[in-house]
Amino acid sequence: MVRHMFSNLLLLWSVGHDLYITGLTHHKPKEQSWNNQNLYSVPLDLDVRLRRLDLSNNFIRQLHTLALPYLEQLDLSANQLDLISEGAFENLTHLEELNLSRNALNNNLGSNVKALQSISGLKSLDISMNGLRNDAVGLYLRNKPSLGQLKMTGNALTRLSHNLFKESKGLRAITIDDNQISVIERGTFEPLSQLEMLNLAKNNLAHICDFKLTQVKYLNLSQNSVEFFVACQDDQLYRLEILDLSHNNLLYFPIVPKINNLRYLYLQNNMVGALNSEATMVTEANDLYSEITREKTVRRNILHSNWRLMPLIYIDLSYNHFRSFPLETLSRLLSLETLNFSYNCLQNITWNIRNDESGHHRQLSFPSLRYLDLQSNGLAYISPLFLKALTQIETLNLQDNSVQPCASMDQSTQQTNLNISCVIFGNLRTLKNLNLQENNIKNLQENTFLKNSLVSLNLARNAHMVVQEDALNGVQETLQSLIISETNMTSSDLSLPCMPALTQLNISNNRLDVIPSSLSCSPLREIDIRNNNVASLNHSLMLALSLHLNVMYISGNYFNCCDSKWLITLDELKIKVLDVNDTVCFTSGGNVTVTGYLNNRSVYCLFHMKEQDIHFGTVIIIMLFVTVILTVFILSIRKVVCTQRSFIV
Ligand SMILES: *[C@@H]1O[C@H](CO)[C@@H](O)[C@H](O)[C@H]1NC(C)=O
Ligand SMILES: *[C@@H]1O[C@H](CO)[C@@H](O)[C@H](O)[C@H]1NC(C)=O
Ligand SMILES: *[C@@H]1O[C@H](CO)[C@@H](O)[C@H](O)[C@H]1NC(C)=O
Ligand SMILES: *[C@@H]1O[C@H](CO)[C@@H](O)[C@H](O)[C@H]1NC(C)=O
Ligand SMILES: *[C@@H]1O[C@H](CO)[C@@H](O)[C@H](O)[C@H]1NC(C)=O
Ligand SMILES: *[C@@H]1O[C@H](CO)[C@@H](O)[C@H](O)[C@H]1NC(C)=O
Ligand SMILES: *[C@@H]1O[C@H](CO)[C@@H](O)[C@H](O)[C@H]1NC(C)=O
Ligand SMILES: *[C@@H]1O[C@H](CO)[C@@H](O)[C@H](O)[C@H]1NC(C)=O
Ligand SMILES: *[C@@H]1O[C@H](CO)[C@@H](O)[C@H](O)[C@H]1NC(C)=O
Ligand SMILES: *[C@@H]1O[C@H](CO)[C@@H](O)[C@H](O)[C@H]1NC(C)=O
Ligand SMILES: *[C@@H]1O[C@H](CO)[C@@H](O)[C@H](O)[C@H]1NC(C)=O
Ligand SMILES: *[C@@H]1O[C@H](CO)[C@@H](O)[C@H](O)[C@H]1NC(C)=O
Repeated sequence: MVRHMFSNLLLLWSVGHDLYITGLTHHKPKEQSWNNQNLYSVPLDLDVRLRRLDLSNNFIRQLHTLALPYLEQLDLSANQLDLISEGAFENLTHLEELNLSRNALNNNLGSNVKALQSISGLKSLDISMNGLRNDAVGLYLRNKPSLGQLKMTGNALTRLSHNLFKESKGLRAITIDDNQISVIERGTFEPLSQLEMLNLAKNNLAHICDFKLTQVKYLNLSQNSVEFFVACQDDQLYRLEILDLSHNNLLYFPIVPKINNLRYLYLQNNMVGALNSEATMVTEANDLYSEITREKTVRRNILHSNWRLMPLIYIDLSYNHFRSFPLETLSRLLSLETLNFSYNCLQNITWNIRNDESGHHRQLSFPSLRYLDLQSNGLAYISPLFLKALTQIETLNLQDNSVQPCASMDQSTQQTNLNISCVIFGNLRTLKNLNLQENNIKNLQENTFLKNSLVSLNLARNAHMVVQEDALNGVQETLQSLIISETNMTSSDLSLPCMPALTQLNISNNRLDVIPSSLSCSPLREIDIRNNNVASLNHSLMLALSLHLNVMYISGNYFNCCDSKWLITLDELKIKVLDVNDTVCFTSGGNVTVTGYLNNRSVYCLFHMKEQDIHFGTVIIIMLFVTVILTVFILSIRKVVCTQRSFIV
């Protein structure tokens, strides 16, 4: 969704351009590409009517006068350009887009700068990766009143001075990522009233003390060393919608402008939460703000009061250092739909809320939250009050924690027993997707999901899990996707109810020897039974499933070739067994691939039958022989015995 917003921003500049390209396709000769042609100089016989010329990826070192009066786009990227003669662009009066990235324009500045200065109609300029330093960039940007888009990725800028853009005030998008900028002088971007997109990722910025760019919608400060971000607390409307502060050294949440449009906030890979409690963090952030603004007298909770007004819908807090869930701060985000809290160190989510000033119990909730990612937190306990506050939750990712689901409990037992160690999912009525992979769940008890209407449930990698008969009660009507792979369960550990909505099932990597026959209820489209101990599939079950079945994975089982009515049926019904070439079955003569077997099945199983016949015959003959010998022996013994007896008597 962010990509979408961002691309909308980009669209602003590219609309005209795209229309133009489509127009071009009707007039072929006006566009020419010499991309990657081993050119060492610009070809001489260029069509003067050219509007678009691509000379990228060659070895051009020098550029002299181009007589292409209609040229609008020129791509000279990835050459070895270090000298552009002063008048080279003089006659390119229509040039709008110039790509000079990946050259060596840090040389021959005198001449190159003059050449660049002569094209005042330029709308888009790319001078990325040219080894340019602060002064050189300033010179290249002279006389560019129409410039809207500027890209300077991967140069050697360390400082942005306040007069850098004074001759390119129409800029709407500036990308200066991957430089070494550590100082931005006051007044550098402020005069660019049309600036909407500013990318300063991968630089050395450490403190953002007084962010004042009300006009900017997209700000990327990812991969700097930002320790705090504090916006100016004036009463202006800030248009900022997307703020990326990921991969920095933040200890606190950013202090955002009072009135803002912020919708996407990226804070992943920082150190937020490293301080002990949420209260400490909030206090310190506010103190920091007072210090920066020298506002000693008024001590307000700026952080919280501004967050309350923020229309944020997405926040990424993954890979931070939270040991407790910042309930008070995050519950202020009333529009928040997606919260990524994966890879922190939560262990417990408790419900410690301070009462309000008058001592009343406060009711917090997350009224818009639909997607909550809590993967890899070491969570063992989640307070039922927290879950209760997730009134709109649809997707909950708890992969790689230590959560044990409770059997369903009625509301009253729950209220009195808040310190049970299991987690109650049954009351999350809006929940659709639940990921409980890798939680070391031992026992999935009856009615665990009683009041949910789950559509997908992932229980993979809970080694030694047992699924009780009625565990899926309540969701068997809604469940469409069920994953129970890698749990090491045997057929006696798994009983599944009739699930009339189930279309996807993954029970691979277990020790199952039969496939539950209750699956005949389900309109399965995809089933994965790889790596189990199945010797044969129930033929009537396969017939029932074949109505909907589209894809199967079956390799790694212990199939008996000669008990394979199901296999022949699968083959005849043309069900896609995607790993059929890896699947073997055994005959008395050894293992064969099932494809080999299917091509030649009479041979394998005839051989098998014959051998069995011979075997059986031999056994009978031997048994007969033994019986006869024994009878004769016994009879003769008895005779002897009797004779002896008669002697004694
Ligand atoms: C460039 O334009 C100038 C005047 O507009 C003209 O005198 C000159 O001949 C042109 N040069 C080329 C190489 O077309
Ligand atoms: C300039 O060309 C490079 C390829 O060499 C490309 O990656 C870059 O996006 C181009 N710049 C613009 C502004 O289109
Ligand atoms: C910010 O820049 C980084 C580094 O180039 C990039 O990975 C990230 O996707 C950008 N953020 C956004 C929100 O576009
Ligand atoms: C959350 O962050 C993790 C780690 O960065 C990532 O793998 C995952 O896809 C993210 N989840 C969402 C919903 O963006
Ligand atoms: C989590 O809660 C359990 C009991 O509910 C407690 O024993 C444990 O110390 C808590 N862990 C943390 C990190 O708070
Ligand atoms: C909570 O747990 C403690 C110790 O485990 C126990 O003494 C106490 O009775 C429990 N409280 C409730 C309400 O169950
Ligand atoms: C089933 O789960 C296993 C992991 O145990 C995974 O490797 C496999 O790709 C899954 N099958 C399908 C069809 O997604
Ligand atoms: C699966 O169970 C068997 C029998 O209990 C055991 O020998 C084996 O180690 C288990 N495998 C895993 C991966 O836990
Ligand atoms: C085969 O599956 C059907 C349902 O399709 C079931 O009624 C029957 O009991 C199963 N047979 C065996 C041997 O499991
Ligand atoms: C046949 O395949 C099974 C597993 O499918 C394997 O355990 C066995 O060793 C194989 N036998 C031969 C002779 O390759
Ligand atoms: C199995 O192998 C054959 C021959 O190599 C190939 O034509 C066929 O596409 C393969 N089937 C699958 C499902 O990969
Ligand atoms: C069938 O198997 C027999 C005996 O193993 C072999 O001689 C014959 O070539 C096989 N035919 C095909 C089509 O694979």
